[in-house]
Amino acid sequence: MTAAAFQLISRNQLDPRLIAQVYEEVVQVEKELKIQVGSTVEVVERVGRLTLDAGGKRLRPAFVALAAKSIGVPFIESRLVLLGACMEMIHMATLVHDDVIDNSATRRGRPTASAEFGNTAAILSGDVLLAKAMALLARDGDLEVIRTVSEAVVEMAEGEVRELEVRGDFDLDEASHIDILRRKTASFIQACCEIGALTAGATPAERTALRSYGYHVGIAFQIVDDILDYRGDKSKTGKVIGTDFRDGQATLPLIYLRPTLSEAESKIARKRFGNAAGDDEIRMISDWMDSRGAYAKSEAAADAHVLAAKEALTALPTSVSRDLLETVGDFVLQRNG
Ligand code: IPE
Ligand code: IPE
Ligand code: MG
Ligand code: MG
Repeated sequence: MTAAAFQLISRNQLDPRLIAQVYEEVVQVEKELKIQVGSTVEVVERVGRLTLDAGGKRLRPAFVALAAKSIGVPFIESRLVLLGACMEMIHMATLVHDDVIDNSATRRGRPTASAEFGNTAAILSGDVLLAKAMALLARDGDLEVIRTVSEAVVEMAEGEVRELEVRGDFDLDEASHIDILRRKTASFIQACCEIGALTAGATPAERTALRSYGYHVGIAFQIVDDILDYRGDKSKTGKVIGTDFRDGQATLPLIYLRPTLSEAESKIARKRFGNAAGDDEIRMISDWMDSRGAYAKSEAAADAHVLAAKEALTALPTSVSRDLLETVGDFVLQRNG
């Protein structure tokens, strides 16, 4: 294993076996991404490079590769590189747009594209990244893959819009919230697994199993992200803590905290929700989440989704890749960045 792989592991706390299994693909995807972010328009190239060079876990290409390998039959490896790069480019575009929507100043430990170049340049450059990803899809040319990815991108974009619609709603109900997580995060991770399956010529049952795995891991991934938004270490998440509360975005820890609050506490929390909460107030809310069991309940919800994801995998033949998809499930629960 090379020094670069070790660096990836230490930065992202990923299981070394996982990196080893998909290392070749990840290296090739990285090369393709470097080519793809090149542009004759300077600001487009700078936005792409800022997002790419800052790191990131590259989980989506890993899902594509592991899902394909878990089918256990030979397939055209170069398609994994193309499609892995495509999914990471879409993810990058989404992050650039998401940071405009969420007024986020930091991503992957660096200033966001919007902080560095302004919202308009970030939005337009994000559009370029997305369009380039579409060109990669066309290069692959598989209509079923194109259909699967396009549907996921529509879901994801609609999820972001739905989230904006409920912004400021302190009393958001759990079912509506989970539906947003399904749209904005799980649908895309599901699509990564599904196109991996398609690349390897999966049977309908195997495709369904990997879809289900991706969906459940995706929901768990976002629940953990939302816990980290309150109590993460910003040197590890690379993001500003407390963004959801400051933006007035209710997530599972808050939804589970709500019924435990006294009238006076609820009044304080509501007043500050989406309204310039300071670091001390975020810490106070986070302490409540801890002591009233709201974190524990959110973690239990994420656990249950990872369990369901693992259950879905039992429809696949046993293999190292299948084991690794299980490991990724555990990583999603344990990650701190
Ligand atoms: C961030 O995704 C957006 C969410 C869906 C929570 P990641 O946490 O995978 O971001 P990077 O790619 O590692 O930066
Ligand atoms: C982002 O959700 C989900 C996307 C589809 C981009 P968040 O807004 O919670 O993600 P972070 O915390 O900014 O990465
Ligand atoms: Mg965000
Ligand atoms: Mg967001």
